[in-house]
Amino acid sequence: MKMFRDADIDPSPLAGRRVAILGYGNQGRAQAMNLRDSGIDVVVGLQVGSASFARVASDGLTALPSGEAVTGADLVMLLAPDEVLATLYREIEPVLQEGAALGFSHGLAIRFGLIAPRADLDVVMVAPKGPGSALRSLYEAGRGMIALWAVAQDASGSARELALAYGRAIGCGRAGLIESSFAEECEADLFNEQAVVWGAVPAILEAGFETLVEAGFAPEVAFLECVGELKLLAELVEARGLAGMREAISNTAELGAVLGGPRIVDDDVRQKMRDILAEIRAGRFSRQLASEAAADYPLLRDARATARRSAVETARRDLDAT
Ligand SMILES: NC(=O)c1ccc[n+]([C@@H]2O[C@H](COP(=O)([O-])OP(=O)(O)OC[C@H]3O[C@@H](n4cnc5c(N)ncnc54)[C@H](OP(=O)(O)O)[C@@H]3O)[C@@H](O)[C@H]2O)c1
Repeated sequence: MKMFRDADIDPSPLAGRRVAILGYGNQGRAQAMNLRDSGIDVVVGLQVGSASFARVASDGLTALPSGEAVTGADLVMLLAPDEVLATLYREIEPVLQEGAALGFSHGLAIRFGLIAPRADLDVVMVAPKGPGSALRSLYEAGRGMIALWAVAQDASGSARELALAYGRAIGCGRAGLIESSFAEECEADLFNEQAVVWGAVPAILEAGFETLVEAGFAPEVAFLECVGELKLLAELVEARGLAGMREAISNTAELGAVLGGPRIVDDDVRQKMRDILAEIRAGRFSRQLASEAAADYPLLRDARATARRSAVETARRDLDAT
């Protein structure tokens, strides 16, 4: 693994060049503001009629309809939701200047062939490993967020230098830019979302809560035990690692974890993890995301409504109200 930090990176590939950020959401806003504060010429591209024009203006940046923002830009970052990027690329391709660069913060659109960039373009990725709000607040605090970076197409011969200069300008070089590939970043990121932190962890918290409630425990107690302690775990793991976390808790908790953890994460669970990874690699999830978007997100809307009505959410609200 090769890690690049500010001192290893030449910022000049972005000097005097214009970056267009398409999308002003989670990543778009943070990256645009960090670029501006790093002295980069940045313009934001939005859909015609977007409500975000006012937000961009109040942040002191310039917003234009996407086509106009792309015209004359040397690097165009596609920072709208992954499932709309293919359509967005089709819209802007005719106005992308010859020899420009196209940038991503996630590998999905390239890894699964949703976009086939023109041969004259550089294609780069800088994928910060966390949300835009943290990317921005770390930058403002003089720190940075670790990121993966990669080049998928090097038409100019200097795509690597450009990707690194971009990662430096958004502050990631302060923490570290790890050289990767679009496939590695995309597959590992989707795997974590589905099988580990964002998929499995909330599901196990809720299953634990339901087990205690089913056995007659008060929902508020079940919530405090099974959900409320997650922040303590996250802070300990961040500060001391998995081994240090184990040492920091009581002997009672540590022995319980040593005995109980492997019973839950058994061979069956590990096989399911392998199955999920295999399905991701075969493109199954990418197709599911496309069909979910085409049908206007029925699964996501249903899951959000179910989660809001769930017993675990009721317990959280009841605790907050007392
Ligand atoms: N979210 C994260 O924490 C995170 C972390 C690392 C990497 N990434 C990656 O960063 C990229 C952006 O993700 P995000 O979460 O920042 O996206 P997001 O917040 O959902 O993006 C919203 C922005 O995209 C614009 N948009 C929506 N549909 C559009 C369309 N059809 N054409 C043009 N613009 C459109 C929205 O326009 P309006 O303003 O008009 O609504 C809004 O400005 C993705 O590749 C994602 O995988 C995200």
